[in-house]
Amino acid sequence: MSSRPELQAPPEIFYNESEARKYTSSSRIVEIQAKLSERAVELLALPDDGVPRLLLDIGCGSGLSGETLSEYGHQWIGLDISQSMLDVALEREVEGDLLLSDMGQGLALRTGVIDGAISISAVQWLCNADKSCHNPRLRLKAFFGSLYRSLARGAKAVFQMYPESLAQRELILGFAMRAGFAGGVVVDYPHSSKSRKEYLVLTCGPPSVSTAIPSAKGEDGESCSDDDDDSSGDEEHTVSISDRHRPRKKLKVSKKGKDRKWLLKKKDQQRKKGNIVPPDTRYTGRKRKARF
Ligand SMILES: C[S@@+](CC[C@H](N)C(=O)[O-])C[C@H]1O[C@@H](n2cnc3c(N)ncnc32)[C@H](O)[C@@H]1O
Repeated sequence: MSSRPELQAPPEIFYNESEARKYTSSSRIVEIQAKLSERAVELLALPDDGVPRLLLDIGCGSGLSGETLSEYGHQWIGLDISQSMLDVALEREVEGDLLLSDMGQGLALRTGVIDGAISISAVQWLCNADKSCHNPRLRLKAFFGSLYRSLARGAKAVFQMYPESLAQRELILGFAMRAGFAGGVVVDYPHSSKSRKEYLVLTCGPPSVSTAIPSAKGEDGESCSDDDDDSSGDEEHTVSISDRHRPRKKLKVSKKGKDRKWLLKKKDQQRKKGNIVPPDTRYTGRKRKARF
């Protein structure tokens, strides 16, 4: 049987009571998840001003990743689909607020209130159809669309993920871009099969200098301190960083001459013909912003 948990059972079944306890009591897992979360916080690049931020931990599980957010002094809301994982988080008295929620159904959060989000080892689960009513594309669309709406403009979301294939990575990245995010994938230690880690780094809003993708670790062959493997057998030797954004609709350029004067004249002509025309106001013929 495959060692990938995503291929064994739906998350709320796979992470049952015994698995939730096993997961959280493994010192190896605790250490790995803490490292991944620390790197995600680093990639979030929040201002270093000592102000606590309201962050999301998507697929928070038993709170291992959220604990890193608490260590950095932030407040957080953790959501997960597994009741058993959340029960363990409650027992462990994590500081975040916990929500039993399926990210594939979209996040029911107020618009623009979240300062940033991390998600550790969770988002690839969305690529599976665990129920006959599941359509991974629709679930990814609902998830990224709602996440985009809940984040403040300019806020970042960092997903450490284990896509099963290039196609899966592209699928996840594609739906994030379609939702309006700018960003791409940072691959740390791309030459090492053991230490290689992928982070989808997204910024809420169109691409700008501040949305540039941060650089990866270990691109130049620099090894990770706990990396003792020989990468000679690795298939991938490149850092995959894509920086894309949602294709914008072309702005309609108004035809020359169709300004306020032209519009007022046209309205007058229509009135003279006896047609009902809205009254002229200071907004008549006023140029709209390119995006509003
Ligand atoms: C490997 S665990 C990681 C947990 C935690 N982030 C950590 O670092 O320890 C993956 C988590 O993602 C959650 N998950 C998977 N699919 C989900 C979904 N559709 N909605 C919410 N949580 C989900 C699982 O229940 C599980 O707790």
